[in-house]
Amino acid sequence: SQTLKIATIAGDGIGKEVMPEGLRVLRAASQQFNIPLEIQTFDWANCDYYQQTGEMMPADWKAQLQGFDAIYFGAVGWPATTPDHVSLWGSLLKFRREFDQYINLRPVRLFEGVPCPLAGRKAGDIDFLVVRENTEGEYTNLGGVLFEGTDREIVIQESVFSRIGTDRVLRYAFELANQRPRKSLTVATKSNGIAISMPWWDKRADAMAANYPEVAVDKQHIDILSARFVLQPQRFDVVVASNLFGDILSDLGPACTGTIGLAPSANLNPERNFPSLFEPVHGSAPDIYGKGIANPIAMIWSGAMMLQFLGYADAHDAILKSVEDILKAGPHTPDLGGQASTQDVGKAIAQNINT
Ligand code: NAD
Ligand code: IPM
Ligand code: MN
Repeated sequence: SQTLKIATIAGDGIGKEVMPEGLRVLRAASQQFNIPLEIQTFDWANCDYYQQTGEMMPADWKAQLQGFDAIYFGAVGWPATTPDHVSLWGSLLKFRREFDQYINLRPVRLFEGVPCPLAGRKAGDIDFLVVRENTEGEYTNLGGVLFEGTDREIVIQESVFSRIGTDRVLRYAFELANQRPRKSLTVATKSNGIAISMPWWDKRADAMAANYPEVAVDKQHIDILSARFVLQPQRFDVVVASNLFGDILSDLGPACTGTIGLAPSANLNPERNFPSLFEPVHGSAPDIYGKGIANPIAMIWSGAMMLQFLGYADAHDAILKSVEDILKAGPHTPDLGGQASTQDVGKAIAQNINT
């Protein structure tokens, strides 16, 4: 089989601590499943590089990454030295937009062995997918400041919803829901308060729904949808949302299943015109960086999603099985109530992979 070319970018903070564990597990899986891997490390797209050069990435970053099958990414952001909008618009958000990774797929699952902050829930009760629009919506740099520095200051921040961009994320979510046994799709909206984009988003969802008569569609305003993530998480199967709503839901969901330290994501360009990017949902966690206690499972699970996307579903399943075993039996990092280190957990998962 063909060599998989993976570009790795660890980034900042705990990105640098969880990346080695993600790679440890990837290498273990590639051995077990005979997957030829070629891994290349890039030491830019981090705030140290920015402090040294004044840029987050070299000018030819796109050419450097274009030939890879995927990008395996830790986390970027070090607000103590670099404003977050500078570091993120200079790296991750550029990848998503310029590599047209318009789907951000973020699974949410309650595992056995993980204490759930919601009362009365057991493993299997919570198992859904957040499909987040990833290239437009509320994330734009369009707008500006008028009368800056005066008390008449006015700030305008535009949103962008294109028909192509909206239809393609809706179509992806409907297809996904249609393939799952429950065939249920929740569409996040806010068409009561946001008077232009969201009523239009609802109309596009209605139009798309006509192509999928077997999918049960439920439109919910983002406020009550958030409440139901907490109160009735078992009712969700696939949830599709605009960029910002999807961002919020994809931290809330994992928080409801115990820790954001487990939550993976796949930033997909499904047509494969560009490399897709796989990363934990969480950030660089400055509050715990340097202690070696970050949970590496989000990074590891993201690596499994990468292998699945690249055609190795069996390796994905084996990694997930190993993660399930370790969540059940330990070792556990402190976010799960344990005392194990990042490395302890990475090693345990790597050693436990079986074909
Ligand atoms: P964060 O996700 O980094 O941390 C939030 C909280 O969750 C912290 O208390 C942290 O300790 C905890 N946490 C996160 N990951 C964990 C893990 N693997 N194991 C155990 N605990 C974990 O969010 P933040 O504090 O808002 O952001 C910190 C920096 O990261 C900022 O610069 C932000 O912009 C950036 N960020 C980057 C990404 C990304 O690269 N995809 C995502 C989110 C935030
Ligand atoms: C995420 C992060 C990013 C986002 C930030 C760091 C720009 O929170 O991947 O969820 O908002 O998309
Ligand atoms: Mn986020």
